[in-house]
Amino acid sequence: MSKERKTGRGEFSNRFGVIAAAAGSAIGLGNIWRFPYITGEYGGGAFICVYLFFTVALGIPLVLSELVIGRKAKKNTFGAFKKLAPGSFWKLIGILGLFAAFFILAFYSVVAGWGVNYVFASVNDAFVSKNPGQLNDLFLNFIKDPYCPILFQVIFMVLTGTIVFFGIKNGIEKNVKIIMPVLFVLIIALDIRAVTLPGAKDGLNFIFNPDFSKLTAQGVMSALGQAFFSLSVGMGIFITYGSYIKDNESLVKVSLSVPLADTVIAILAGVAIFPAVFAFGIAPGSGPGLVFITLPNIFQQMPGGYIFSIFFFLLFVLAALTSSISLLEVVVSFFDEELKMKRSVATILATSIITLLGMVCSLSLGLLNDYTFFGKNLFDSLDWVSSNLLMPAGGMAISIFIGWKFGKFKVKNELEKNGSGISTVILSGFIFIVKYVAPVAILIIALNGLGFIKF
Ligand code: TRP
Repeated sequence: MSKERKTGRGEFSNRFGVIAAAAGSAIGLGNIWRFPYITGEYGGGAFICVYLFFTVALGIPLVLSELVIGRKAKKNTFGAFKKLAPGSFWKLIGILGLFAAFFILAFYSVVAGWGVNYVFASVNDAFVSKNPGQLNDLFLNFIKDPYCPILFQVIFMVLTGTIVFFGIKNGIEKNVKIIMPVLFVLIIALDIRAVTLPGAKDGLNFIFNPDFSKLTAQGVMSALGQAFFSLSVGMGIFITYGSYIKDNESLVKVSLSVPLADTVIAILAGVAIFPAVFAFGIAPGSGPGLVFITLPNIFQQMPGGYIFSIFFFLLFVLAALTSSISLLEVVVSFFDEELKMKRSVATILATSIITLLGMVCSLSLGLLNDYTFFGKNLFDSLDWVSSNLLMPAGGMAISIFIGWKFGKFKVKNELEKNGSGISTVILSGFIFIVKYVAPVAILIIALNGLGFIKF
């Protein structure tokens, strides 16, 4: 086991530990499930370009902002703002993050539950000799069922709750270090199979040949939402993780490595999926079921597909688990530290409430499909509100905090704590982005996406 220095609060043992844990939170269903289907819905390459642009221009500076706040304050999100800006309203960002975590985990656990079911289905060889239409029906009948998906969702939440209950930070860090590299190798294997399918070219064209005429205001807003969702940025996760990073660590390096790993995995997932989508004549805009319909199709056709299928969905669940643990941790640490609950009570309460909301979310795809908010069922609403509103709003608030309240001087101090100087150009560029570009850009994109202004 790696040596873990204790200084009252926990600390990551080394840079690999920090990056693996942060990447474990960032890399999850957002990359393997949400990225491909959202890309499919918003028309492919052009959407990806905008998403990449937002990841670099806004995502990286925001990850860095959160890390700076976290390491400076050495507190949870809510506590960090209370400490750095006492008596002010900034701590509300912590509340925003709390709601985001609640909403995300509710639908996230439903999808992770589907993954659990697909592990069992893979073991039982349930996809064999089914055509895309039959796989589609298999998936739709499953998610509309009132009982089965809930059972798997509960299994997943019990798993998440148990890990958080025992507070196995070490366990998470250690597991993530193994899971992530394996996931990477598996996706590469799938990519190789996908790009060698007959007709793969159309799929690759779809993602790598941008057609900007397909881009809509909602598409741009969703690209921003996807960038934030995938990075786990805008709700204080990196404030919490930043608080466990040693002073001699370079925050800039962490803020570059995590988005890089996250983006690479997302693109690789796209490359694994779209060639198959086109090769098998599935509509790219099929929505949340995309991965569950296309991948079983590839597995059937590849040598060793039986075993690959089990591995893939197992990793799907594990990648979801490393993200969901950090989501639950946000709620539990708030209940625990701010509402002064015992950690055990906090964990059980938070897990139960989220599981209940998740159950309703699952039912909203079948039994309760008729109950909608602005035309969206609960599942889609929770996803949309958290990714497109709460996380960008949180990101905007965090950038304003760093740019206007915390200020350049303190940022410089924090970034230079590891002993190496930071170049003036990088520092000024960063401050310029968080002070002006990020808040204005996020506001305009949101207003445009919501239809309040038109370009
Ligand atoms: N980024 C995660 C993924 O891509 C999902 C996520 C969104 C998340 N917000 C988060 C995870 C906050 C942990 C914390 O799947």
